[in-house]
Amino acid sequence: MTMTRKHSVEIVPSLLACDLAHMGEAIQAVKSAGISWVSVDIMDGHFVPNLSFGPDHVRMAKKYGLTVDSHLMVEDPESIAPWFTKAGADIVTFHIEAAKNAKNLAQKIRQEGKKAGIALRPQTPAEKVLPLLPEIDLVLVMTVDPGFGGAHFIKEMLPKISTLRQAIDSANLDCWIQADGGINPQTALLASEAGADSLVAGTAIFGQKNIAQAAQILKDQVRNK
Ligand code: DX5
Repeated sequence: MTMTRKHSVEIVPSLLACDLAHMGEAIQAVKSAGISWVSVDIMDGHFVPNLSFGPDHVRMAKKYGLTVDSHLMVEDPESIAPWFTKAGADIVTFHIEAAKNAKNLAQKIRQEGKKAGIALRPQTPAEKVLPLLPEIDLVLVMTVDPGFGGAHFIKEMLPKISTLRQAIDSANLDCWIQADGGINPQTALLASEAGADSLVAGTAIFGQKNIAQAAQILKDQVRNK
């Protein structure tokens, strides 16, 4: 399948998997490997059975000069999203399953000068977000059930990524396709070949002895894809 994507594939470390007692060093380590974008998972204990970070973690991450996306796994993204646009997140991604009005929320995020992303749980078909692609800058395809790191990549998500790739390319839209969950050197190849151009990886980077080397391995794996 010929792809005309507008971006080379980016590796995006997920801070959920880093040593929480040494977040700054972890960010420095991936930065030293040329990473320019990190992901901060926000969990409210309702949309997913876990609690994680808040706006202050985004403020902290922004001090390292990287692009910071905040993935809102929350029941009430309309209320929570402004916390993260104000905290300096560059991209605010919310779940289509939770939004009261996804189009309005995406417009509000963009009005704050931020990029808007919509995330899909594995069970949510691509068709749900197709009409909204012109309103957003990123679509996040969860390749694990959201809530925790260390889960296995769900290969059945690959056709969903390809569907989105074709829709975005045929409409000549500038919209990232982000795959998130279970990304490692093998699944990074599968996801990028299916059309993803942003790959969120937690365990495959921060779960390794040498963080910078692990990030470099993933970058090399998808170079020129
Ligand atoms: C899961 C999070 C993912 C997760 C990725 O709900 O959204 O970003 O941290 O971690 P790994 O790469 O370990 O699956």
